[in-house]
Amino acid sequence: MKVDVLLGLQWGDEGKGKVVDVLTPCYDVVARFQGGPNAGHTLEFEGKKYVLRSIPSGIFQSGQVNIIGNGVVLDPILFAQEARALEESGVDLHKVLKISKKAHLILPTHRLLDAANEKSKGASKIGTTGKGIGPTYTDKISRNGLRVGDTLANLDERYAAARDRHLGMLKAIDATADMEALAALEKEWFEAVEYLKGFDLIDSEHYINHALAEGKSVLCEGAQGTMLDVDFGSYPFVTSSNTICAGACTGLGVAPNKIGHVFGIFKAYCTRVGSGPFPTELFDETGATIRNLGHEYGAVTGRERRCGWVDLVALRYAIMLNGVTELIMMKSDVLDGFKEIKACVAYKINGEEVRDFPYDIDSVEIEPVYVTLPGWETDMTSMKSENEFPENFKAYIRFLEQELQVPIAIVSIGPDREQTIVRKQIK
Ligand code: GDP
Ligand code: IMO
Ligand code: MG
Repeated sequence: MKVDVLLGLQWGDEGKGKVVDVLTPCYDVVARFQGGPNAGHTLEFEGKKYVLRSIPSGIFQSGQVNIIGNGVVLDPILFAQEARALEESGVDLHKVLKISKKAHLILPTHRLLDAANEKSKGASKIGTTGKGIGPTYTDKISRNGLRVGDTLANLDERYAAARDRHLGMLKAIDATADMEALAALEKEWFEAVEYLKGFDLIDSEHYINHALAEGKSVLCEGAQGTMLDVDFGSYPFVTSSNTICAGACTGLGVAPNKIGHVFGIFKAYCTRVGSGPFPTELFDETGATIRNLGHEYGAVTGRERRCGWVDLVALRYAIMLNGVTELIMMKSDVLDGFKEIKACVAYKINGEEVRDFPYDIDSVEIEPVYVTLPGWETDMTSMKSENEFPENFKAYIRFLEQELQVPIAIVSIGPDREQTIVRKQIK
């Protein structure tokens, strides 16, 4: 058996949570492979809405094992809050959730460092989620990190060494820590670690590979999106992990030849939260309309998401990097009322048309080259099959498939589980 991977192709918030939830009944195991509580994955069903941060989005279906993989960075405090809320809503979390011992821990001082780093950057700040993601991955790569497995022995000593090192770093950039607030956070952190230890802490690479050997099916859930990948995104305005398909290999211990389908999710338009270049961003009424109709406000920070037309240059790049086998188009309903819809098919840079995503999209002047398509001006939110799709929407799908050379297998027409049209059975 091979694993299937589901990941975002844009700047995050494409709707990964919703689709993982919808696809989970087809799988035995769901595993998150990177990112941390910077993610906010929203699910809606039976009139209720849930936002997941560190826990995989397969948690609400029945019986599947959900794994937080080694590539994830975990904040015990936020994890405990999220997990307790789920337990209160009736999810038997201890039964279905397993956590890799190799996942790295976010410490209270990582959050302080994140804030101090942002402050020191001034106007060129990244606009992080403030969850300590960058400093935690920095510690991982510089071989200073603490892992979930470290909570099982000598934690106090290791914690104190890390905390002291971090306080030294804060001092070096003239950031003072409020020691009283830090002490309170630390108390909460250690309590949360005790709660965390009540879960099944596993060697998830063995667990997943054994599951595959036994013929079980695994869905890997990405966080953020390809354009936020630390190597291939709009660096330095990116997150600190590999969000692309290769991240599922390192973030779960799955060999490249074990990757099966790669489901690439994108919105019928485009959004970005935080700083950094965004070639198709709309600063006009249309951008504001998309934001309002799509409720484009961050699930984690509540920040306004920047909105623009779909960017096929960036999407082609993302499809190439991930080896996407099926596309999933989200939030097409948001465009239901539009007379015309635009899609960026190339960038004009210094008078030249560029179709391959360039090295630098920040300091050069990019003029998006748009194709304008007629809108469908039909409410699609209660449709049940693609046969009901209006002609202009069908034409929009054909246009995208032609441009992207990958089939659109699923179209999402609303936030609810039920508002999902499967065009091509993928499992
Ligand atoms: P994720 O981080 O990729 O899981 O996406 P988010 O949850 O951050 O953002 C997606 C938002 O769009 C959430 O509020 C979802 O409830 C909502 N959503 C998902 N699919 C659709 C859709 O097809 N139509 C509409 N209108 N909303 C959707
Ligand atoms: P999901 O999984 C959208 C953005 C932040 C910032 C940059 C770096 O819900 O799609 P970080 O805190 O990771 O150091 O911030 O990345 N960012 C996201 N944007 N969706 C996300 O996750 C994001 N996670 C991080 O806004 O620009
Ligand atoms: Mg999100």
